[in-house]
Amino acid sequence: MVKRVGVLTSGGDAPGMNAAIRAIVRSGLKNGLEMFVIYEGYKGLIEGNIEKVDRNFVSDIINRGGTILKSARSREFKEEAARLIGVEQLKNFGIDTLIVIGGDGTYMGAKKLSELGINCIGLPGTIDNDLSSSDYTIGFDTALNTICECVDKLRDTTASHQRCTIIEVMGNKCGDLALFSGVAEGVEMIITPEHPYSENEIMDRIKALGTGKKKHSLIIVSEKVFPNVLSFAEKVTQETGFETRAEVLGRLQRGGSPSAYDRVLATRMGVYAIEIIVKGIRNVVVGVVNGDIVHFTFDEAFALPRKTHEDIHRLISMVNR
Ligand code: F6P
Repeated sequence: MVKRVGVLTSGGDAPGMNAAIRAIVRSGLKNGLEMFVIYEGYKGLIEGNIEKVDRNFVSDIINRGGTILKSARSREFKEEAARLIGVEQLKNFGIDTLIVIGGDGTYMGAKKLSELGINCIGLPGTIDNDLSSSDYTIGFDTALNTICECVDKLRDTTASHQRCTIIEVMGNKCGDLALFSGVAEGVEMIITPEHPYSENEIMDRIKALGTGKKKHSLIIVSEKVFPNVLSFAEKVTQETGFETRAEVLGRLQRGGSPSAYDRVLATRMGVYAIEIIVKGIRNVVVGVVNGDIVHFTFDEAFALPRKTHEDIHRLISMVNR
């Protein structure tokens, strides 16, 4: 019988992580478990930065962005020696189950820990929406709304100056933030790693846009598609004659109070994680699939194909210019 459960957040912070921590701690305590938090992700695990918590520890955090547990990207944890130290730290506190909230790197760390005998449960916490085991990740909806708020503002100035604005959004190697925000904003072009265009194709399209009746244009591009989107915009201006600017939204996309959707999703997933722990289910990741909260083993999750959203791509040509 599991008695002591720890929770940590790792990788890029995402709005809604706090709501998940709250749900995990509160429902864990309700189920008679002793609840612990680990600060600064796997880095804090190696250092033994661990604390036992009560229900008041998670009061008034459901609406807060970031993560009260802090986060880190630990290179050290990629080494087995560091992971063994982490296992020892958990054993010192009598913690037999660890819930990790993060993205694919976090899941990989948890899988490796599970191979060393620690029961690990993963919750998808990343704005990137790049985990195949969940239709939506905690933080994606909030980041999407933040992007839309920024694009709404950029639209005003873009239209006033009759320019083209290329907006670079996050997503790591996943185009979901670009795709969904592009649809939500009805932009002229969406460029993602899944649907890339050659430089010539982009130039030709922008040139055509600049000579249309409606001149101003918005383009959304995933990060890492262009090595430097600012220089690319200058090149576009020179080569097409259509005045083009670029904006990199950057880490502001990760901040802010979580949307209602993310709070509810995080709460459902946090409570579900405790439910499956109590049932004795080991070493899985939690996701939302077709509206239901479900779980997959680490191996099943890693083997799932990438989401391509072909249905959404099909509708873009029907509604966007
Ligand atoms: O994974 C979340 C994310 O925000 C990615 O979209 C981005 O590529 C990365 O983290 C940036 O990480 P950092 O803030 O550590 O540079």
